[in-house]
Formats: sequence, structure tokens, C-alpha cells
Amino acid sequence: MLVDVLAKFSYQLSVISYQLSVISYQLSVISYQLSVISYQLSVISYQLSVISFFLPSFPLPSPFSPTPIPLKIMYSTDVVTDAVLRTKNLNVYYGSNLAVRDVNLDIPEKQAIAFIGPSGCGKSTVLRCFNRMNDLVKSAKIEGKVTFRGQDIYGNSVNPVGLRSRIGMVFQKPNPFPKSIYENIAFGARLNGYTGDMDQLVEESLKKAVLWDDVKDKLKESGLALSGGQQQRLCIARAIAVKPEVILMDEPCAALDPISTLKIEELIHELKTQYTIVIVTHNMQQASRVSDLTAFYNAEPTPKGGKVGYLVEYDRTEAIFQNPAQESTKDYVSGRFG
Ligand SMILES: Nc1ncnc2c1ncn2[C@@H]1O[C@H](COP(=O)(O)OP(=O)(O)OP(=O)(O)O)[C@@H](O)[C@H]1O
Ligand SMILES: [Mg+2]
Repeated sequence: MLVDVLAKFSYQLSVISYQLSVISYQLSVISYQLSVISYQLSVISYQLSVISFFLPSFPLPSPFSPTPIPLKIMYSTDVVTDAVLRTKNLNVYYGSNLAVRDVNLDIPEKQAIAFIGPSGCGKSTVLRCFNRMNDLVKSAKIEGKVTFRGQDIYGNSVNPVGLRSRIGMVFQKPNPFPKSIYENIAFGARLNGYTGDMDQLVEESLKKAVLWDDVKDKLKESGLALSGGQQQRLCIARAIAVKPEVILMDEPCAALDPISTLKIEELIHELKTQYTIVIVTHNMQQASRVSDLTAFYNAEPTPKGGKVGYLVEYDRTEAIFQNPAQESTKDYVSGRFG
């Protein structure tokens, strides 16, 4: 009796073991086939990379700009004919330290321009020259020229406050006024002498900044009670309310989560149909997603042991990211330094 049971059990074990060996064999066949496919794919990928090396580069269309921009700009000052802002041999000093040198840059109308480059290379410094925010830094001094629609913005007749209403700014850290959401928008407009329908302006600005639906029922609540991403959109709405022509953004998403970041990026796409946007960013994906043109800055050591920033390359964003002219640009955008 016991012998029978043991024999049966042993038979069943041998069946199971046989079935396992069949499964294992089949798995090894599948694994072999997968490794063959993977090898073939790597051969194809290698061949494609060899072919692409010899082909002229074809810039991939940016997901947001279906129409290619008919511009080829290198450090240009002469190619862009519709430049809104232009710097000519711009040097900026803080005290006796030259922070950024020889910047020649044309910012064309109604496009988004990204400033990228390692920390300390002068991106914010150049950005702040466009609306004379550097005037607020006592030690800052500029040489060269910055023009806005052909006019020297550092000329004696220019009122920096008036200039800043035409060239607005959004900062890295959202900075709503400690006032209601409504007042955050109305305040600047009123200061600028706006006499139209204020309710309408507030609604319109919040809608343009894609914030209206979030705040329409709490316009009297404090702007500081909003989330970081909402606060940043409130600051953009505030900038828009004074009807600027250019909006400067210095790392506007640096303090935001990925969803708020994406919302601001979508907003930038909307805004650039009406405004010229210059955005400083450390986020390479962001630069390639939102901008039409990209300026890459770098810094080099000075004999005094300091560093001076300079503009390395300025071109269509696709070219900067896929076919830059300078080796250092290639290294930076591919993350090899910075
Ligand atoms: N207010 C200031 N006073 C003195 N030096 C300054 C001032 N602001 C900037 N600098 C100097 O000017 C140089 C460029 O600074 P800037 O802030 O423009 O760089 P950045 O490219 O914007 O850097 P980051 O990516 O870190 O923001 C740096 O060497 C910096 O130390
Ligand atoms: Mg900066």
C-alpha cells in the first residue's frame, strides 16, 4: 500500500519535473530569440547613426512651433530686421568686476527666446539690462548699447518706470503683492494710469494667464493664499495687465512642481502670439519646448582670478540643441558640463 502511494507520488513528481523542463526549454528559446532581435536592433541603430553622421542635420520640428522660423542667427545684429530689443557690444560691470562682456544680441518680435548657460555666466544680468532693472543695483554699470524699437533705453530722456511697463518682468520666486487677487492685477494698471473698465481688465488678464477659472470666485482673497504655481500665474497676469510688449522671465518655473511648470510653459506658448518673451532657464527640456531661439552663455576665467560671462552662440533652438556650431554648446546641452 505504502509502496503504491510512494510510486504514484514519485510518478507525479517526475511528470511535474518534465513539464518544468519543457517550460524552461521554451523560455530559453524565447530568450534566445529576444537576444537575436535585440542584436539586430542594435545593428540597425548603429547603421542609422553612421548614416546620420554623414547626412546634413535635419532639425526636428519643435512640438509647439509647426512653422519653421525663417531665421538663421549667429551672434547676429544684422540679420534680424524686426528686432524689438538689441544689444550692441554690451558689457556689464558690478563695481570694477566685468560680469558679462561683448553681448551682441537681437531679440525678434513675438517669439520666445531662451537664455541658457551655467550659473554665473550673466544670463540674469543681461536680462535685467533689457528693462533697466540693473539700475536698482547700485554697483551695476553698463557699457555699449541696448535699444528697444531702435531707441537707446539708457538715453537721458527714457523713464525707467515707463520702460518697465512696456517690458515687464516675472521673477524666479513668485512675488504677489500682499493684497487681494483683484488688487494684484488692478494695482499696476492703476499706477500706469489705466482708466478703462477695471473688472474687465482683471478678468481678461487672469484669463490670459489661465488662472481665471481657479480664482474667479475668490478675487477678494489674498494673492498670497494661492499655491506657488497659481501665484506665478498671478504674477504673469499682473505683468500682462499693464499691456507690455515684452515679458522677461528669470527662471519662472524654478520654484514650481512639474504640473505647474507645464502650465506655465503652455502659457508661454499662448503669450508669444502677442508678446515677445525672453526666458532664462536651467531646464534644457524647457528651453527646447518653449523657445524659438536660444542664446547659450558661458563664463571664462579672468587674469584677476574672477570669471566673465559671454555669449557663445545664438541660433534657432533646434540648431542649438541638435547641431550647435560650438563644441562648448554641444557639451552643455548634452549635460557634459554645467
Ligand atoms: N548684484 C550683484 N552684485 C555683484 N555681483 C553680481 C550681482 N549680480 C550678479 N553678480 C555677478 O555677476 C555675474 C553674473 O551673475 P548672474 O546672476 O547674471 O548669472 P546667471 O547666469 O544668471 O547665474 P544663475 O544661473 O546662477 O542665476 C556673477 O559672477 C555674479 O556673481
Ligand atoms: Mg540668474
